[in-house]
Amino acid sequence: MMTAPDASGTSLQVPVLTIDGPSGSGKGTVSRAVAERLGWHFLDSGALYRAAALAARRRGIPSDAVQELAALARDLDICFVERPGDEPEVRVDGEDVGDELRTEQVGALASAIAALPEVRAALVDRQRDFRQPPGLVADGRDMGTVIFPDAPVKVFLTASAAARAERRHKQLKQKGLDVKLADLLQEIESRDARDAARTVAPLRPAADAIVIDSTGLPVEAVVDRVLAIVASAVTAAGMPAR
Ligand code: DC
Repeated sequence: MMTAPDASGTSLQVPVLTIDGPSGSGKGTVSRAVAERLGWHFLDSGALYRAAALAARRRGIPSDAVQELAALARDLDICFVERPGDEPEVRVDGEDVGDELRTEQVGALASAIAALPEVRAALVDRQRDFRQPPGLVADGRDMGTVIFPDAPVKVFLTASAAARAERRHKQLKQKGLDVKLADLLQEIESRDARDAARTVAPLRPAADAIVIDSTGLPVEAVVDRVLAIVASAVTAAGMPAR
């Protein structure tokens, strides 16, 4: 299937599983679990946008300073430290920014700067660099459509807005954060609308993506379904897998 090495010398034969979808669809948990089961690397592309947003806020860069934001996104020192069974630790300029990165405020700012084509362009190569042997699970909004259009397996994971708000509410509660469910639902709906309506890389399934609606499904069931999709692609195309 994919044969040519890319300009950086990374072989395009390295398989990529893209998992795109709206926030709260369970993408992050499912992607991490699938990456762990396959022994593949994991890219949380949303964390790159969040890290850029957080750094912009800390440095006082306004959300309309397009060139400054693009330079920040391209050059910012962001490092992911993989932690088995847990979200990777995210370090910005060497500092663990963990919980701050996950706040609704940083998410909203990330969504705003993600609508800027210059910022998205600045992050393209950073994301493609994650394609390393033996494989990559890439979690995001445009992994299958823009960043890895040649990925042999693409999944689009979705769920009703109410189910996503409830999941997020539970997650935040576990972290000791008390946020109103109704506010979360409103936030999710407006972010969805913004992410789907933007002109660059709008949120939509790739034409060749398999859509999974996870409403009412436990995480393990979704993980098993995704692994089954990968397994059948391996059988069909001789794709390397563990
Ligand atoms: O997945 P997340 O909630 O961490 O992402 C934060 C924001 O970043 C989200 O509102 C949309 C944006 N994003 C994007 O535009 N493209 C991606 N590949 C990942 C995230």
